[in-house]
Amino acid sequence: MLDKVKELIVEVGYFNASTKEELETFRIKYLGSKGLLKDLFAEFKNVDADLRKDFGQALNTLKKTAEDKVIELTAILEKSVEEKTIYGDLTRPSEPIELGSRHPISIVKNRIIEVFNRIGFTVSEGPEIEDDWHNFSALNLPEYHPARDMQDTFFIEQNPDILLRTHTSSVQVRYMEKNQPPIRTISPGRVFRNEDISARAHCIFHQVEGLYIDTDVSFADLKQTLLYFTKEMFGKSKIRLRPSYFPFTEPSAEVDIYWGLETEIDYRITKGTGWLEIMGCGMVDPNVLKNCNIDPIKYSGYAFGMGIERIAMLLYQIPDIRMFYENDKRFLEQFKSII
Ligand code: DAH
Repeated sequence: MLDKVKELIVEVGYFNASTKEELETFRIKYLGSKGLLKDLFAEFKNVDADLRKDFGQALNTLKKTAEDKVIELTAILEKSVEEKTIYGDLTRPSEPIELGSRHPISIVKNRIIEVFNRIGFTVSEGPEIEDDWHNFSALNLPEYHPARDMQDTFFIEQNPDILLRTHTSSVQVRYMEKNQPPIRTISPGRVFRNEDISARAHCIFHQVEGLYIDTDVSFADLKQTLLYFTKEMFGKSKIRLRPSYFPFTEPSAEVDIYWGLETEIDYRITKGTGWLEIMGCGMVDPNVLKNCNIDPIKYSGYAFGMGIERIAMLLYQIPDIRMFYENDKRFLEQFKSII
């Protein structure tokens, strides 16, 4: 009899309930008016006199253990109900954390930087709010120069000297003012033009400017660098340079890559020619070097400039430049897998 009570004490000690119903069944089983303890206390009078003391103590321990158990489990179950109402089900699987994606402009910008980093170009940056000197005059575009019309400018508070830069060529000037050759730098950044917004043009877009100044830099160096770039960036190995005009370079050229005419899309984007214009370039005009305190007798160099949106549109076949600025998740999510 005593052994049975001792076993029950252990059993009660280990008991656990996950619901209030289970706990209630337990309580009725041990402490109920027809419960085990009632029966056991009724047995008391049948126990031998010399065992009564131990039996009585064991019974009291069992009763106390069962009562404590009920109090303890009631508190635990109530707390978990409370937590569930506050926090919901804490054991449910967690919600997946949504990963964002890099913006296509950042992806392309980083790729351009990486390609030029590999051949020794470092990144430099300049302010988006510029003065006339760095955006125009130092670049061989004096006041009233007709080429200023090519770039419709946003001025700040009617002040003709302070403006939003119309190209990243302004960073060339800033970099040369502070550094002597050898110079190898690329300058990515945002530029602004007072233009009507359409599928092909926007008033805010991005450019990357390149600048290389050293002794004996030739047009052949420029061409090789651009060929390397187009191979790395587009996997295309044919380029052509068409004579063009920029006030800050002489001679100047427009760079076309041979895109091919394999698909209908190739026909459409190259207007049936297979060629695509991707940037402007040239040998830095000696006047520009002089304006930036670099000796044009000793040094020569090349520069180039390209639009990041244009390159991203070609790489990812994006038909409308406005898509870059709409922040439509359905558009942005498509770049999730690219870093
Ligand atoms: N700044 C020119 C533009 O915005 C692009 C450009 C052309 C940059 C020729 C250059 C260059 O450095 O040599 O259209």
